[in-house]
Amino acid sequence: MEYLKTGVLLILFGLEPLLILTSLCTSVTSASQPCAAKHFGDSVVCVCNSTYCDTVPPVPKLSPGMFAVYTSSQAGDRFQLTTGKVRDSRSSASCDLVYELRMNNTRQSIIGFGGAFTDAAGINIASLPLAVQDKLLESYFTSEGLEYNFGRIPMASCDFSTHAYSYDDVDGDLELSHFALAMEDNKFKIPYIQQALKLTNNKLRLFASPWSAPAWMKTNKNMKGNGTLIGHPGGQYYKTWANYFVRFLQEYSKHNISLWGVTTENEPTAGFVPNYGFQCMGFTAEMQRDFVKMDLGPAMHKNGFQNVKIMIMDDQRNSLPHWPSVVLKDPEAAKYVSGIAVHWYGDRTPLSVLDTTHDLFPDYFLQYTEACNGAGASPHVALGDWGRGERYATDIIDNLNHWVTGWTDWNIALDLEGGPNWVKNFVDSPIIVNASSAEFYKQPMFYILGHFSKFLVPGSKYMDLIPLGFKLTLYHVAFVRPDGSIAVILCNIAESPAKLSLHDPAVGYIDLTVPAKSIQTVLWTS
Ligand SMILES: *[C@@H]1O[C@H](CO)[C@@H](O)[C@H](O)[C@H]1NC(C)=O
Ligand SMILES: *[C@@H]1O[C@H](CO)[C@@H](O)[C@H](O)[C@H]1NC(C)=O
Ligand SMILES: *[C@@H]1O[C@H](CO)[C@@H](O)[C@H](O)[C@H]1NC(C)=O
Ligand SMILES: *[C@@H]1O[C@H](CO)[C@@H](O)[C@H](O)[C@H]1NC(C)=O
Ligand SMILES: *[C@@H]1O[C@H](CO)[C@@H](O)[C@H](O)[C@H]1NC(C)=O
Repeated sequence: MEYLKTGVLLILFGLEPLLILTSLCTSVTSASQPCAAKHFGDSVVCVCNSTYCDTVPPVPKLSPGMFAVYTSSQAGDRFQLTTGKVRDSRSSASCDLVYELRMNNTRQSIIGFGGAFTDAAGINIASLPLAVQDKLLESYFTSEGLEYNFGRIPMASCDFSTHAYSYDDVDGDLELSHFALAMEDNKFKIPYIQQALKLTNNKLRLFASPWSAPAWMKTNKNMKGNGTLIGHPGGQYYKTWANYFVRFLQEYSKHNISLWGVTTENEPTAGFVPNYGFQCMGFTAEMQRDFVKMDLGPAMHKNGFQNVKIMIMDDQRNSLPHWPSVVLKDPEAAKYVSGIAVHWYGDRTPLSVLDTTHDLFPDYFLQYTEACNGAGASPHVALGDWGRGERYATDIIDNLNHWVTGWTDWNIALDLEGGPNWVKNFVDSPIIVNASSAEFYKQPMFYILGHFSKFLVPGSKYMDLIPLGFKLTLYHVAFVRPDGSIAVILCNIAESPAKLSLHDPAVGYIDLTVPAKSIQTVLWTS
């Protein structure tokens, strides 16, 4: 179904009001399945079941001089597609706000966007009939959905499991002869990861993160609380722990799942917090440096995993730039490391620490590896909450403007309570499953993530987008994609619409209205 929207533009030219019909200027397309909206909170969720699920309209073929805009808004737009014509000069009709694109200062390249295959996510997917499971995974991984290309896998259990377990709970088994994947891997992770790999034609970059070593390997003999591996880096427990990573990579590759990367440890600073409530393990930056240098790096190289990227830190922004400084100033550790993994929960720390870190270590990427809303909040799951989507959008844009190469959401699916989670650390998710009605709800966060993941494909390069002569009003970011096309993302957090023009010196002016409380992705060929 395609129809044209006739625009009427009133221009005040001197004292003479001029009426101009712009009938062929903007067309609205909806060739895809629209959102089956259900109102909750201040916006809507889109309901998917065994027979129906909304899809994203495909990017139209853009001839030079045309642009496309996808809009999602608190008012209920979900990937609403419009196209328009670029103006070749700035006319009197153009508004005052002009953002100018600068092609001469490209920066970081995108690595990817995605979410995590936790036990909880798998348990929720498995609670749906097969036809609904397919729709859920297609929503994330196909070109009719968000085209996720990045995924995180917890190594063994985390809080989003139904209990604490490791892959070798046999006391004293330093040879790891009892190492085995868990029922949860076989039932709730591997099948869905394999399906996602298929849906993306193997374009899914996967990385794994451990929460805790088996309790018997730790000073406190417990997978939670204040504890580290026994002994020191280079010692037998650290060597065994490095081999545990290798065994994990080997077991997953037996299921045709090759990992793109690992992080050294999920939130290593949590492992020094007395009575920390779920799986964790303490490393200081110095311990991590020595573990990578003496144990993990050599073990991965020796066993044929030298191309699996090692990301350090995997903790909040407030560990920057101290943590990478300690690890990466040692060339013997740094040679094994590819990037720095950051979580969003400390994002009140100024963004400038990302710039400082990049300036110190320009050869190491900065990738966000975990984020979620609703932790410690009430309610944990806020259906239809636009504000939670907006928090994602503004955080991602801020980070991309400070050298970050991509962003990873937490659980890809949770239940109505925000679990399961064995310590009741319930949180929100872009997809909430209602098992009793065999349906799932796509939250505003889901669509917000798609405004980035679908369009900022791997290899897209950051470009400057400069507001000319006015105060910043919108969150904005621009990228040139590998095919040479431009993608600009704009997020309006105000209660009123914003009119502006994007100026690409190579093609002209793109006039836009960004609705109140909305996000837009604008695409054109430069
Ligand atoms: C699935 O959703 C569609 C669209 O909302 C609705 O028409 C249909 O009745 C639903 N089917 C089931 C089995 O609930
Ligand atoms: C890019 O071009 C702009 C405008 O022409 C100029 O002001 C700026 O200094 C240039 N930046 C770089 C990094 O060359
Ligand atoms: C954590 O455990 C270590 C080793 O048992 C101990 O030295 C340290 O004081 C503990 N830290 C806190 C904050 O309790
Ligand atoms: C792995 O892939 C190969 C080749 O496509 C196939 O023959 C084999 O069955 C797959 N193994 C698993 C465990 O999926
Ligand atoms: C989940 O499904 C049940 C059973 O159909 C229904 O009663 C309930 O209202 C649904 N929950 C939400 C949040 O829609």
